[in-house]
Amino acid sequence: MATERTLSIIKPDATRRNLTGKINAKFEEKGLRIVAQKRIQLSQAQAGAFYAEHKARPFYNDLVAFMTSGPVVVQVLEGENAIAANREIMGATNPANAAEGTIRKEFAESIEANSVHGSDGPEAAAREVSFFFAGTEIVG
Ligand code: TYD
Ligand code: MG
Repeated sequence: MATERTLSIIKPDATRRNLTGKINAKFEEKGLRIVAQKRIQLSQAQAGAFYAEHKARPFYNDLVAFMTSGPVVVQVLEGENAIAANREIMGATNPANAAEGTIRKEFAESIEANSVHGSDGPEAAAREVSFFFAGTEIVG
């Protein structure tokens, strides 16, 4: 087991419904530590660059529009196997397929407005953490 860091985003559907605290409680209950956090408004350029891997997908333009539709909370989560642990806590991309007790099962509105983002592997985690945070902003 290794201590890892992963990038999490609480998405606009969740900030709009005042769910930041309830979502953070899920992370903390499962042993993940929030070692950096800030509430920001993404620009179109930032959201487009963040999701560049999906540029060719049919949902890309709508995803960028959604991610810029309101504030997001970007955060770094730290813990044992944090990347996979967070993906479990989040649940499946489509809330219809998400397991009981997961964030997406409990809170997501749709496959697009699915409340949270989490890095999907070590390379993405490193890239995504540094996309939003300077090293000095992360306090473990
Ligand atoms: P993806 O990386 O496949 O999912 P995850 O967030 O679980 O890693 O897709 C990124 C986001 O794109 C997803 O959270 C919501 C949106 N999306 C859609 O709107 N429609 C879709 O069919 C898919 C697959 C994703
Ligand atoms: Mg993904």
